[in-house]
Amino acid sequence: MEDLRNKYLELVSGAADEAVLEELRVQAVGKKGEISLKMRELGKMTPEERQVMGPKLNALKDEINSALAAKKAALADAALDARLKTEWLDVTLPSRTRRQGSIHPISQVTEEVTAIFADMGFAVAEGPQIETDWYNFDALNIPGHHPARAEMDTFYTHRAEGDNRPPHVLRTHTSPVQIRTMEKTGAPIRIICPGRVYRADYDQTHTPMFHQVEGLALGKDISMANLKWVLEEFFSAFFGTHVETRFRASHFPFTEPSAEVDIQCSWEDGQVKVGEGNDWLEVLGSGMVHPKVLEAGGIDPNEYQGFAFGIGIDRLAMLKYGIPDLRAFFDSDLRWLRHYGFASLDQPTLHGGLAR
Ligand code: PHE
Repeated sequence: MEDLRNKYLELVSGAADEAVLEELRVQAVGKKGEISLKMRELGKMTPEERQVMGPKLNALKDEINSALAAKKAALADAALDARLKTEWLDVTLPSRTRRQGSIHPISQVTEEVTAIFADMGFAVAEGPQIETDWYNFDALNIPGHHPARAEMDTFYTHRAEGDNRPPHVLRTHTSPVQIRTMEKTGAPIRIICPGRVYRADYDQTHTPMFHQVEGLALGKDISMANLKWVLEEFFSAFFGTHVETRFRASHFPFTEPSAEVDIQCSWEDGQVKVGEGNDWLEVLGSGMVHPKVLEAGGIDPNEYQGFAFGIGIDRLAMLKYGIPDLRAFFDSDLRWLRHYGFASLDQPTLHGGLAR
C-alpha cells in the first residue's frame, strides 16, 4: 500500500502535462485502476481486516485525487506564466480608428440626382449662397415691388450705416444660377445646380435652410414636351419605378408658361409610396424660361428658348426613404441614419469611390 502511494505521488509530481495526468488518474483511481481494484477486494476480507483496510484505501484514493488536482492547477499556472512572458499588450499605443460616420441623406440624394441628370447630358453649375438682389430677384423678372419678394420670406444681410445700396440676400432659390450660367457660357445650355437655399420658415415641412436642384436647358427648339420627358425620366430613375406626373398650370415671374409638377403616390398608415395610388404630391416648379430672363442673362429670346425647373431635394429624400419629418435632417444622430439604412463611409458611395 505504501509502495502504491509512493509510486503514484512520484508519477503525478513528475507529469509533464494534463494528458499524462489524465492517464495516471485512469491508472490509479479510474474504474479499473489499481486502487479501485484493491477496493473491490475489500468484499473478500474478514470484517476485521475490512475495518482496517477500508479507511486506508479511501484515504489513499483521496490523497491521490488531491495530488492530481494540485498538479493540474500548477501546470495551468505555469502555462499562464509562460504566455505572459511571451505575449504582451502595449496599452500606450494609439488605438485603431473605427469608422463611425455615415453619409447624410441629403448628400446621398444630391449625388443620386446629379448622376441621373448627368446621364441625360446635364452638367453641374454653381453659384453663391449670399446673392445680390439682382440675381436673386430682378434678373428673374421679380422687380422691387413684386409680391413674390415678400412671399419668399427672404433673409437680408445688413449694409453699413449710410450705405444705401440694396442689401444682399441669402438666396431664396437656386434660380439665380440660371442667370449666372447664361452670362458665363451663353446658349446653348444644359445644366443643373444643386445647392442650399434659405427662407425664414420653420415647421414640420419647412426648415430655414433647405436644398433645391435647379435645371436649365436652352436651345433653338427646346419645348415643354422636352421638359416633361426629362422630368418623367428623372423620377422613374430616381424612384426605381414608373412614376406618373401631373403638370398643373401655375405662375412664376421667371417662366411663361409655368407649371407645378406633382408625382403620383399613395398614403397608407402615414407611409407615403411613390409611383402607386391616387394621391399627388407637389415636388417642383417649372416652365419655359421668360424672355425677360433670357435678356437679363444676355441671351437673345428670338434665337433661344428653353425650360427651367426647381426641385426640392429634401422633399425627394423624405419621399424616397420614408422620412416623415423634415427637421430630422438637422437634429438626428447616427442611430437615426442607420435606421433609414444610410451606409457607413466605409461603403463605396458616389462621393468618389471608397471614402478614405
Ligand atoms: N425657383 C422656384 C422656387 O423656388 C422654382 C422654379 C424654378 C420654378 C425654375 C420655375 C422654374 O420655388
